[in-house]
Amino acid sequence: MRLVILETSDKVSEWAAKYVMKRINDFKPGPNKYFTLGLPTGSTPLGMYKNLIRYHKEGKISFKYVKTFNMDEYVGLPREHPESYHFYMWNNFFKHIDIDPANAHLLDGNASDLVKECEDFERKIEEAGGIELFVGGIGPDGHIAFNEPGSSLVSRTRVKTLAQDTLEANARFFGNDISKVPKQALTVGVGTVMDAKEVMILITGTHKAFALYKAIEEGVNHMWTVSAFQQHQHTIMVCDEDATLELRVKTVKYFKQQEAAVTMHEIDPPIPGTNWKFSQENDVDI
Ligand code: PGA
Repeated sequence: MRLVILETSDKVSEWAAKYVMKRINDFKPGPNKYFTLGLPTGSTPLGMYKNLIRYHKEGKISFKYVKTFNMDEYVGLPREHPESYHFYMWNNFFKHIDIDPANAHLLDGNASDLVKECEDFERKIEEAGGIELFVGGIGPDGHIAFNEPGSSLVSRTRVKTLAQDTLEANARFFGNDISKVPKQALTVGVGTVMDAKEVMILITGTHKAFALYKAIEEGVNHMWTVSAFQQHQHTIMVCDEDATLELRVKTVKYFKQQEAAVTMHEIDPPIPGTNWKFSQENDVDI
């Protein structure tokens, strides 16, 4: 596992966007070779999307041959509701880039058969050849997507009842009225994300510090579902200094040294299948 520690959340956004861009461009997608990208919603990835839109407008990246699969969606919220993840993705990302709408996959929380909707989503991922890079965020309770504490670590896409902590955390998007937050969501499972070739998890802010500690310093535990990614072969956690506050100094030093070694090209390239190396200072030449 790689832990990339950057000074601020803005730097996390920039690093993540450059990483996604680099992975897509190195893949050289084309009509017979689509890049499949798993995507999250929430406040954390907003900066990454803004940067990717900018790089797209500057002609540095195209999403023409990219297929995306979003992690989750509320059940029962109309698509056009400003808090639906459909609305979020179209407004914050898709409408600003050149992705073919047919290639942007989101779970339909209003499907008449939710179980079938989840099964179909898994099938579509499989038909697309699996996910090349899954980007995710986490909740303060350590959930990834809507895999709440206690979720099976081999879970697949399914209907999930949201934990009280999540309802409380998301109430801010519903006028601070917890009764307006949908109680259920469709979500990819931990197993679905684990199947991706590579996983990048963004973690920023002091309110995520305990979750980051649980994710990397303690054992794999279904009560902190993000901890499952300790067992993924290619996980990168990208965090800001604030999110490291509950980590041991020893842990922080170790990972900072690792990244410095990457900068100095002393260890293996961090990205499987490429010879690209990312500097800790984030000064990659695109
Ligand atoms: P946030 O949500 O990015 O808005 O903090 C992340 C999550 O709950 O998964």
